[in-house]
Amino acid sequence: MNKFFITTPIYYVNSQPHIGHAYTTVAVDVLARYHRLKGEQVFFLTGTDEHGAKICQAAQKAGHQEQKFCDLISEQFKQAWRALNIDYSYFIRTTDREHEKGVVEFLTQLKDEGFLYEADYGGLYCVGCEKFMTEKELIDGRCPDHQREPEKISEKNWFFKLKEFLPRIEKLITDDQILIQPANAKKEVLGLFKQGMEDFSVSRQNVSWGIKLPWDQSQTIYVWVDALLNYWTALQNNNTVILNGAQRSEESQGLNDNIPGSFVGSRSPQDDLRHFWPPDLHIMSHDILKFHAVYWPAMLLAAGLALPRQIFIHGYFTINGQKMSKTIGNVIVPQELIEKFGVDATRYLLLAQFPFGNDGDISLDRMIETYNAHLANGLGNLVARVAKFGFKIQDSRFKNNSEEQYQKLMADLDLYGVVKLAQEKIQECDGQINKIQPWKIKDKPEQEKVLKPIIKEILFISRCLAPIMLTTSQKIVEIFKTGQSEILFPRII
Ligand code: ME8
Ligand code: MG
Repeated sequence: MNKFFITTPIYYVNSQPHIGHAYTTVAVDVLARYHRLKGEQVFFLTGTDEHGAKICQAAQKAGHQEQKFCDLISEQFKQAWRALNIDYSYFIRTTDREHEKGVVEFLTQLKDEGFLYEADYGGLYCVGCEKFMTEKELIDGRCPDHQREPEKISEKNWFFKLKEFLPRIEKLITDDQILIQPANAKKEVLGLFKQGMEDFSVSRQNVSWGIKLPWDQSQTIYVWVDALLNYWTALQNNNTVILNGAQRSEESQGLNDNIPGSFVGSRSPQDDLRHFWPPDLHIMSHDILKFHAVYWPAMLLAAGLALPRQIFIHGYFTINGQKMSKTIGNVIVPQELIEKFGVDATRYLLLAQFPFGNDGDISLDRMIETYNAHLANGLGNLVARVAKFGFKIQDSRFKNNSEEQYQKLMADLDLYGVVKLAQEKIQECDGQINKIQPWKIKDKPEQEKVLKPIIKEILFISRCLAPIMLTTSQKIVEIFKTGQSEILFPRII
């Protein structure tokens, strides 16, 4: 059985989850569900990034002790993912003892093997980005992402010999051994190699909230090194891991009939998780590309571990042209969408806004438009139009001539393409119904004969959308099994 290890970034707990985080997590959930439905053994990892100066400052501002603050916000992420029907395999927190232990072991190995050295360092540090920045990266002396001046820092750090690994990584990326997509993301990374990169520090002085270097207690492990290692530490502690999602096998049952081949359960809690290594697919946006495409493979090469196979960079949402931020006050939280549209439609709408690799501007009005066009007047109305004739289909295992196209879209991670394919099919079905005018056919068997192919199309559409809208998909199967209809997507005015 194929294994498939897919990840989201672990999100900072400096503030509550918003629809940018939801976008990544829903997309990863959709891909994870798709691979599970194909019968693969899937490990879907997400979690929260809880150490460093940025979190420490946020905790102070909120008037909480750090760990307490992390507990609160981390729980908000879990709640948001529950509300969005996210079926992750494991939720890691960088304040987990087991993670901290793994990070210390990893760095100790790098030190023992001579990949770390001590040096004095001075530079400009942006706490928002949690990284050193060069003058060139600043606009009017400020970090363009966080609109604030970086701090001037001069301290002793432990450094990682990144430069030793750069030629190998550049070649691996050029040859698609580490596949970076879309093409513009690969180009951006290769550009970094052309400019040249410096060794980076793996520890910070004067940062209290984090993991201490065991051999130098004046140093706290750099939050990005701590964070990247989550992908590795999550698989190391087999006995303590309790996999999420015991409810899933029941949930999926209604769908089994609608999936060609049989559904194969993908989880056995006592599995040795280490066989999931290496990551098959890291998904994120371009803000953190360099860390994942350069620093992360270098750390793994130094440790002698297998490298991630693929990194996919999806687009970044802005709201009315601006970055989502608490200061601007334009943050949209997933709950707001769920209340308005329901869970399934929210998942769908997040993916339906832009091609998966493209940036775009989010507007609630446009989401309402898409909801009404695609779901209320589109899918929901089509199902109602056909279901009202009351014909049933029991066995929904059949071939569709767009099957191959669907599989290719998923393999290419073209989630927007899947949405478009479904919409095209819906329009085709509506067009056919208008043409054949089944309500004018008086002979029942004749009516059934012309409607059955359309029901089959609808069941295919529903199967394509199952990883995005599981509940809706199950309802559609149920409607054509029992002949009893219901309104799937009430119109929103
Ligand atoms: O960077 N549009 O965490 P983070 C689309 N802890 N996606 C968005 C988005 C937006 N407006 N805003 C956030 C960190 N995202 C580190 C990661 S991983 C080892 C450590 C999504 O909370 C997108 O996936 O800032 C982006 O890359 C990620 O959240 C950044 O999350
Ligand atoms: Mg960020």
